[in-house]
Amino acid sequence: MTDRPIMRVLAGEVLAVPPVWLMRQAGRYLPEYRALRRSADSFLDLCYTPALATEITLQPVRRFDFDAAILFSDILVVPDGMGMSVGFEDGHGPVLEPVRSAGDLAPLDPSRVAAHCAPVYEAVGAIRTALAPDKALIGFAGGPWTVATYAVEGGSSRTFETVKHWMWRDPDGFGALIDMLTEATVDHLSRQIAAGADCVQIFESWAGVLAEPEFRRYAIEPTRRIVEALRARHPATPVIGFPRGAGRLIEDYVAGTGIAAVGLDTGVPLAQAAEIQKTVPVQGNLDPLLLVAGGPALVERAGQLRAGLAGGPHIFNLGHGIVPQTPPDHVAALVAALRGPA
Ligand code: CP3
Repeated sequence: MTDRPIMRVLAGEVLAVPPVWLMRQAGRYLPEYRALRRSADSFLDLCYTPALATEITLQPVRRFDFDAAILFSDILVVPDGMGMSVGFEDGHGPVLEPVRSAGDLAPLDPSRVAAHCAPVYEAVGAIRTALAPDKALIGFAGGPWTVATYAVEGGSSRTFETVKHWMWRDPDGFGALIDMLTEATVDHLSRQIAAGADCVQIFESWAGVLAEPEFRRYAIEPTRRIVEALRARHPATPVIGFPRGAGRLIEDYVAGTGIAAVGLDTGVPLAQAAEIQKTVPVQGNLDPLLLVAGGPALVERAGQLRAGLAGGPHIFNLGHGIVPQTPPDHVAALVAALRGPA
């Protein structure tokens, strides 16, 4: 485990060549993923079939020799397991039976996630067994706030109007949803760690739509509770937080949650990233669209990022997930550039 470069950086070591993995490194930009996807009835079938989830997780590691595999799954398996029926319709993203009042929460049960996600934990074990010893396996979950946006809006949203309305109108009811998601997330991450995940990442992808008081209450506080509970059960396992769009509140998120490392979105300036790096290892933050553009711009910006963060612990990554139109050759070029001369 200590020979895994990602784990060394998470423990605070500065490596000459930053280890690399990319958010959404498995998925539609890869022809081998699209081929498997066609063979399954739905996206969630892939997530709940251990052999398929294992194979898809390993595809990008095999092709690009990344330093980590990230479990192929989704943040919405948690609400699915709690009893909100989640579906993915091609071209429309996720669709959930929305919860919008305390009454809607009655049929939901966080303790059901463990049994529902047993195939996910089985995949984690199979992946760890198949993975080379120097590669880290990253488990993950959504942050309670981010998952709550999908649960309340009934899917993706542009305005977050419905979820914010409930949050302000009925803080006790909305707080109960956040509490249920927090409890389920602790259990879900804990079981991934028990099954073989070396570290876990909390995707708070919609952190950036909250004003400061709500950011503290619904992003920092639940994450602090998750980190604390995981530390009690698995003291050696680092938790990476990814508070996308948190801007000047990132430092407060780091201090307030107790996370071991922080993923930075594309909007974070290099100088701020280097400052944060004095406190915790950082991960990020190349613009995913540079991977679509490719060419000299990609290599140049990757070099600047690497050089700018060479003074502290750095895991190279994107500022958000790979987009489906990314040419796989550009990903290979990025990895080659990173591992070439500085
Ligand atoms: O990083 C990885 O490679 C691991 C797999 C992973 C997926 N989703 C697979 C996926 C991870 C870590 C996620 C996280 C996730 N899921 C987030 C947080 C990160 C982020 O991107 O902000 C969110 C918000 C979701 C919810 C979700 N899942 C949406 C909104 C969608 C539809 C939009 C889209 O990209 O298709 C998904 C579907 C999804 N999750 C796909 C994949 C590979 C595409 C499904 C398909 O093949 O049709």
